[in-house]
Amino acid sequence: MGYADFVHPGYRPLNSELVCLFRITPAKGISMREASGRVASESSNGTWTDVSLRDERIVRLGAKAFETRGGFVKIAYPAGLFEPGNMPQILSSIAGNIFGMKAVSGLRLEDVAWPRKILKSFMGPQFGIKGIRKMFRVYGRPLTATVPKPKVGMTSEEHARTGYEAWVGGLDLLKDDENLSSQSFNKFERRVEKSFGMRDRAEKETGEIKSYLVNVSAETEEMLRRARFVKKHGGEYVMVDALTVGWAAVQTLRRECEDLGLAMHMHRAMHAAMDRNPLHGISMLALSTMSRLVGVDQLHIGTVVGKLVSPRGEVKAVQDKITSKKSKKILNQNWENTKPVLPTSSGGLHPGLVPDVMKIMGRDIVIQAGGGVHGHPGGTRAGAAALLQAVESVMENVSLSEYSKNHAELRKALEHWGRVKPV
Ligand code: 3PG
Ligand code: 3PG
Ligand code: MG
Repeated sequence: MGYADFVHPGYRPLNSELVCLFRITPAKGISMREASGRVASESSNGTWTDVSLRDERIVRLGAKAFETRGGFVKIAYPAGLFEPGNMPQILSSIAGNIFGMKAVSGLRLEDVAWPRKILKSFMGPQFGIKGIRKMFRVYGRPLTATVPKPKVGMTSEEHARTGYEAWVGGLDLLKDDENLSSQSFNKFERRVEKSFGMRDRAEKETGEIKSYLVNVSAETEEMLRRARFVKKHGGEYVMVDALTVGWAAVQTLRRECEDLGLAMHMHRAMHAAMDRNPLHGISMLALSTMSRLVGVDQLHIGTVVGKLVSPRGEVKAVQDKITSKKSKKILNQNWENTKPVLPTSSGGLHPGLVPDVMKIMGRDIVIQAGGGVHGHPGGTRAGAAALLQAVESVMENVSLSEYSKNHAELRKALEHWGRVKPV
């Protein structure tokens, strides 16, 4: 089948088909039509030349590039191309060889609309936003979290002590950093034991529910062992660097978490290798659909105003994608009864930025700050209090400066950082 067999302008995709939106920059001398056909071909069942087996059954499995606008093209994939429940197989098709084709100088997978049958073949989140809120009995306001800094180097005791200070300062969640797993000076098991000991103490002292996002990212079997260890020590969550461990491992962990009754927090470390270039790679929007499908409960989606690149339009679209029942950005997706994922805003936040974040993202979020808590001139406990006070000021519709008049920790934070947007 030549590339032209994969181009069908005006085609209306069937409900059973998976649809992708690609941005294509054709290579020199290649038309958009040809490039679209070649992408549809290589990502379904074609290759660079005609082959002898070409009957109706084979032709029917071919993808169809059907709508082109500027550099964007939609491609419909027959359901039969895919193995339901197998994220690696699906991505080896729609996000595989095609990125390296000489026929394109740039190719970006912008969005994916998943048909019902594939949607149902993945587990989806176990808790979702409602389930997480129920766990904390916190309704209305954003949940708050912190990541101990320096991110690597503390002993397990120092880490647990930092968690304690943050919890009694008022935060809901302690989170391991993405590159903290089980280094010699802070072994996983010791950190978990010490931190949950401190957590129990903080809960007793404050009368509030506190939890800990424990980074279990490792080789898959080891990751499962660590998840079981977290459960055994009274944990409610695991945290996973989903992109560095890979979707297959996340799927396996998701199944284990179902048995253990643990929630999953997804860090997106490495996403920018895929989504930062607007002309090539895989967008955060597309990655977010995969996260909801495989079933994490919380996902980092950016801050707009923090230290890492995350444009407002993208953050809002991703939020819509992972929280709506029927999302319309960019491709329509009916999520049916797949639970929503709680968006986490993190990366360079501090109390002075909380009103911006809540204005952009609302209240059904986790607001997380590392440096913006532990860098407080009064230390971690004061920094935690200041972050919570900033959240409270927005909830009470009072400006930060007004609220800081009788909240000393917030006042100190504002004197220290003001409303600076870190770069
Ligand atoms: C591969 O997986 O390496 C390709 O499918 C090779 O196929 P081709 O020789 O037809 O390009
Ligand atoms: C994260 O993993 O989200 C970051 O470690 C947050 O840290 P920061 O607030 O210091 O940028
Ligand atoms: Mg981090």
